[in-house]
Amino acid sequence: MSRFIVFEGLDGTGKTTQIKKLAEYLKNRGESVFTDAEPSALPSGKLIRRVLSGEVKSSPWATAALFLADRINQNADPENGIAKHLEAGDTVILDRYYFSTFAYQGYETDMDWAMDMHYLCPELRKPDLVLFLTMPPEKCIERITENRGAQPLEIYETTEKLTEISAKFNSVFEKLAAKENVFYIDASGSIDEVHERIVNAVSSAFSKKLALFDFDGTVIDNSEGIYNCIRYACEKMGVECPGDETLRRFVGPPLYDSYNKYIEDDNDRALYFVDCYRERYAPIGKTEAKLYNGIPELFSALKAEGYTLAVCSGKPRDFVMSIAENLGISSFFSDYFCPSFSDTGIDKGGYILRAMKEFTVLRENTVMVGDTKSDILAAKKANVRSIGVRYGFASENELEECGADVTVDDVSGIFHAVTGKKT
Ligand code: TMP
Repeated sequence: MSRFIVFEGLDGTGKTTQIKKLAEYLKNRGESVFTDAEPSALPSGKLIRRVLSGEVKSSPWATAALFLADRINQNADPENGIAKHLEAGDTVILDRYYFSTFAYQGYETDMDWAMDMHYLCPELRKPDLVLFLTMPPEKCIERITENRGAQPLEIYETTEKLTEISAKFNSVFEKLAAKENVFYIDASGSIDEVHERIVNAVSSAFSKKLALFDFDGTVIDNSEGIYNCIRYACEKMGVECPGDETLRRFVGPPLYDSYNKYIEDDNDRALYFVDCYRERYAPIGKTEAKLYNGIPELFSALKAEGYTLAVCSGKPRDFVMSIAENLGISSFFSDYFCPSFSDTGIDKGGYILRAMKEFTVLRENTVMVGDTKSDILAAKKANVRSIGVRYGFASENELEECGADVTVDDVSGIFHAVTGKKT
């Protein structure tokens, strides 16, 4: 099976050495590996080398376009092109790709323009995995001058320029977080240490599978506890408590938002409401939770299939952890991606992206399971598959309308939806 791995990083981060070592490692394990670097050895690449040395003058816009042209040639070259190697089932490892144009030329031109012209070009293959080697720019320059000998430095090789490009790389990868599979590798330390980090990242990315679970309405039914705490807080604040149908809407989204939406639009009072709610929730409300039928069996079966399991919820982390502990399911979870008590905003899409980074899992191997629109929209934001469960707190067609990839009626349908296998 072919795979396309790209190395990125500032000049001097050791990409060339590490690519050589990774290629050797994979070849020893029986893989057919093809390595190449940008700019290419084709005539278009040779022209770029002359630009980089300062011998040929080129505006940053023209330089960006030259890199694109060279990249297309390198993809489509009939002799030794990337496309040809991928079609042959090889592992292709490339030293730099379009991310370098976004960072190096993007900081002197317009990053969005650079991105558009690449992403709109049908001749460029998308990498499966991007490894971004990180190192402070001063250290990079130190290494470049040590290794270059009498050879002159290239146009981007100053600490000032590399500092700006480093910041640009970070904003490029932030912007592409939901589009590409990018993992940061600390490039400091010995060659062998960095190699080990790279081998771990590659093997994890191509083998690990991650299933993220929303908590309330998906894993546990805590509605009684939640409703009782809302009633308690309303009484304490002297406001009328909403009816049962509206109380259902409080499960899932941030309490703070629900107070503003369903009780009264007052941010300070909403904060006080959350405090009152927690006053009862911490000692009593959280003990009024129960597991949906079949949850422990589902988790065991997914673990047996090799899935890493984690919680991705808008409920404060400490509450989720202590409920999971009390209900005997904490050993299934590798981590909890949830807000802290002081967070008022919740970015579930961001939590999904963080989870993929933490476990080094590709988005194609990640799935989010949840019972409300907020879970499905979070999955969409992170660009991962979503499974909507209908036994929770969504209204009639909520999950279908927001575009859940699959919906299931009960816990017994989740295993098949996640793995594609029968139980
Ligand atoms: P390298 O062979 O040391 O990686 O050098 C290539 C140089 O070209 C490096 O300074 C980064 C620069 N470059 C760009 O400016 N834009 C690009 O798209 C690429 C691939 C490289």
